[in-house]
Amino acid sequence: MAAREGLALVDRDHSGVDRAFRADVLTGLRQSQKAIPARWFYDDIGSELFEDITRLEEYYPTRAETEILEARGPEFAEAIGPGRAVVEFGSGSSVKTPLLLSAIQPAAYVPLDIAGDFLREAAAALARQFPGLPVYSVEADFMRHVELPDAVSGQAKLGFFPGSTIGNMVPRTAVDLLRSMRGTLQADHGVQPMLLIGMDLVKDPAVLVAAYDDAKGVTAAFNRNLAERINRELDGTIPVDALRHVARWNDDFARIEMHLEATRAIQFSVSGERFEMAEGETIHTENSHKFTRRSANLLLHAAGWTVRRRWTDAAERFSVILAEATEPRNAP
Ligand code: TRP
Repeated sequence: MAAREGLALVDRDHSGVDRAFRADVLTGLRQSQKAIPARWFYDDIGSELFEDITRLEEYYPTRAETEILEARGPEFAEAIGPGRAVVEFGSGSSVKTPLLLSAIQPAAYVPLDIAGDFLREAAAALARQFPGLPVYSVEADFMRHVELPDAVSGQAKLGFFPGSTIGNMVPRTAVDLLRSMRGTLQADHGVQPMLLIGMDLVKDPAVLVAAYDDAKGVTAAFNRNLAERINRELDGTIPVDALRHVARWNDDFARIEMHLEATRAIQFSVSGERFEMAEGETIHTENSHKFTRRSANLLLHAAGWTVRRRWTDAAERFSVILAEATEPRNAP
C-alpha cells in the first residue's frame, strides 16, 4: 500500500502550505519525544521510495503476503463464498487485489483511497482487467467513517486490508479503525461482514531490523525524505546530513520503530519556529507492530471481529487472517 496524497482532500493556506502537515509537524516537534505521524512519508518521492522498499531483498512482507494470496485462492473462495462486495481500505497500486478478486466471485469492487487521481487510475486498470465487475471508487480517508455507494448497500461485504498497515497504528488507533471498518461494512440486512487482513509476524529481531534498515539504504532515504519534505514544504532548515536513520526493535511493544537520530547537537527552524535537538535525540517517525497468532486474535476481538481462518507463507513470516463481525455477547 501507499497512502498517496491527492489534491482534493488537502486544505492549503494562501501560500500553498498543507495546513494539516504543518500542524502535525509543529505539534510533533514540540513534544519531549519528537514524533511525526507516518502518513506524511508519502509525497511523490516518498511513494516512489516506498515502491522500491517493497522490492528489496531484506523487505520480505510484500513477497510473503503475495505468496499467500497466490497459493490460497481456492481456500478463500470456499471460506468467503461468492457475491460479496470487496471494499479495499487504501487501495494503493496493489498487485495483491487482482489475486483476491480472481479467487472469489465478488459482486463488486469498492476501492477507498485518499489520493483521488491515483485511485481513479488504479480503479480503471482493475475494471479493464475484470470486465463485468462493477467498480465504485470512493475518495475518502478510511481513518474516518466512510459512506459506501448506494449500489452496494444491500450486498454482503468483504473488507480487504493487506500490507500489515494495521501494524503501523498503536493498538488504541488500530482498534478504533477495525471497529469503524465493521460499521462501514455492515450491510442493511443480516449477513455479517468479513475482513481479510494482512498482519506481519513476530520473528528474529535481526531479520526485522534488516527489513527496515536495508544494506542499500533505501529505507534510510525514505525516512530522511520526511525531513527533506519538511524543508521543501514548510520552509525548514533541518540539517538532514546530521540525521541518521535508525530502526530498532521495541520488545515490550513488539514493534519496529523508525527514528531520525541527531548525530550532533543541532538547531533549526520550521515555518519560523525554532527547534533544537541534542546529540543522540531522535524524531520518532514510524511504528510497525508485529503480531503472534494470539495477539492478532486479541486485537481483532477487541474490535468486534472473530477470526475464522488464518494462513501463513511457507516460512511463517506473515499472516493473512479472515475474520467475521460478531455481535458483542455478555460472556463472563
Ligand atoms: N505496513 C508496512 C510495514 O510496516 C509498510 C510500511 C509502512 C513501511 N511504513 C513503512 C515499510 C516504512 C518500511 C518503512 O512494514
